[in-house]
Amino acid sequence: MYSYKGKKVLVAGGASGIGAATVTAFREAGADVAVFDIAFKEVREEAGLLEYPADLADSSQLSAAYAMLKERWRALDVLINNAGIECVATLEETTEEAWDRVMGVNLKSVFLSCKEALPLLKESRGSIVNTASQLAFVGASSFTAYTASKAAVVNFTRSLALETAKDGVRVNCVCPGAIDTPLLRRQFEGRRGPQGTLDDLIGMHPLGRLGEPSEIAGCILFLASPLASFVTGSAMLADGGYTIQ
Ligand SMILES: NC(=O)c1ccc[n+]([C@@H]2O[C@H](COP(=O)([O-])OP(=O)(O)OC[C@H]3O[C@@H](n4cnc5c(N)ncnc54)[C@H](O)[C@@H]3O)[C@@H](O)[C@H]2O)c1
Repeated sequence: MYSYKGKKVLVAGGASGIGAATVTAFREAGADVAVFDIAFKEVREEAGLLEYPADLADSSQLSAAYAMLKERWRALDVLINNAGIECVATLEETTEEAWDRVMGVNLKSVFLSCKEALPLLKESRGSIVNTASQLAFVGASSFTAYTASKAAVVNFTRSLALETAKDGVRVNCVCPGAIDTPLLRRQFEGRRGPQGTLDDLIGMHPLGRLGEPSEIAGCILFLASPLASFVTGSAMLADGGYTIQ
């Protein structure tokens, strides 16, 4: 694996699940890592790690987090936009508030975060990886808001990649299948999800199991690194074969 020694990496939405595994992987690869997440209660710092609480769907909180980071680091090599929430509801059950929240966290935060980070990434000729989903490419009953938000992230990624190619900034996204995280488990707490039981969902993945957060972190580290130097605008599926059937 590529060494990130001396590199500055921001993981937006890195307190749990895929994001937390990504933070661990970048730190193991030698990077200094900043993490913004709504789940943090306070600013916390230790060698090579800076945690900052922020609701990334709120532009003023996101701007404050970036202002702090820019003052501390004055540089950024890699941005990972990973914050996300689920919304499991039929169209009739989906309220306007729920729709706006899903779009705010899953899509608008990506837009705002890229806008803040881009000047620094142009200086470093750095890269961005957004977390989309395999559900960007296929429909899923009771997931209208979520699938719409993730499909938008994929095409946002492609368009931004075109804009920033001349500056040497690569922009990609990773599209996980069902990964064993708190977000996934919440969908099955005490009830059958719209895709049946957890075992039914596993059965929809030809590899026959859930993915592990570290398996998505590996894709993210690859896409962000010079190992992927000719990869931009791509949507890397890491879905155990879910979408190829
Ligand atoms: N787990 C899966 O099966 C799966 C599949 C495809 C895509 N994804 C995507 O992967 C990403 C990570 O999800 P996960 O499964 O690890 O879930 P998770 O709930 O474990 O982690 C999501 C993280 O985002 C943070 N977050 C949520 N709202 C936020 C906000 N407003 N501001 C800042 N941080 C916020 C949470 O606090 C948490 O740390 C999400 O974008 C999700 O949509 C997950």
